[in-house]
Amino acid sequence: MNMKNTSRRPLVVGNWKMHGSLESVTTLLNFLRHELQNNTVVDVAVCAPFVHLPLCRELLTISGIQWGAQNVSEHTVGAYTGEIAASMLADLGCRYVLVGHSERRALFGEMDAMVIAKIKQVLEAGLKPILCVGETLAERECDATEAVIARQLHAVLGALTSEQLAELVVAYEPVWAIGTGKTASPEQAQAVHAYIRQLWKEKQPEQAERLIVLYGGSVKADNARLLFTQPDVDGGLVGGAALDQNQFCAIVNAAEQAWNH
Ligand code: PGA
Repeated sequence: MNMKNTSRRPLVVGNWKMHGSLESVTTLLNFLRHELQNNTVVDVAVCAPFVHLPLCRELLTISGIQWGAQNVSEHTVGAYTGEIAASMLADLGCRYVLVGHSERRALFGEMDAMVIAKIKQVLEAGLKPILCVGETLAERECDATEAVIARQLHAVLGALTSEQLAELVVAYEPVWAIGTGKTASPEQAQAVHAYIRQLWKEKQPEQAERLIVLYGGSVKADNARLLFTQPDVDGGLVGGAALDQNQFCAIVNAAEQAWNH
């Protein structure tokens, strides 16, 4: 029996992190747009390094695949050497921006206040933020998973209007599963996804069933299907496997199968 909620379309997003060259990106994008040209079920996007976004625009514009960035400035415009404004990403045709990825939180000191400022910039530019949340291994082991997720989500839920919240996508990415080859079990993922939707419902009762919640953390071709069949898992945020053209297409196909059955 299909347990998927039909008010939500599945979404699979590649997070390339700091990988790729003009040549490798060209090869990958040409493959994806060819292989995925008949896909009408799954929304697909790639979050590329800033410098590869013009290439995404060039190669993906007439495809059904969308593109986005992995980070953005918390400022609108001005003397911020080295920063990229959300309006610049909109100019390049981006649809999504990752915000609050655990690598940015852990390695670049991004706190909830900065995450909120970035989300506001992304929304102001008419783009969709993908808000990443998740617990570390130490937090899971001392049973603090829900407390961590609640803190990260409440910060955002309390700072945005209903109209703004309606534009968000949430990605649950347990930090211990990112790039480690350890994936949350489908049951572990489902439990946290249901909790995220529950928290959303408390603030946004009418929106909670429409909220897209992605799972991220070592999603691969061989574990995607089981994760995606969970009722509250609406797709994936895919790191390492998004750099492998066959794996990424297989993950998109797994989402399609999970929705069609
Ligand atoms: P991974 O990365 O799939 O390589 O674990 C996921 C992410 O960091 O978004």
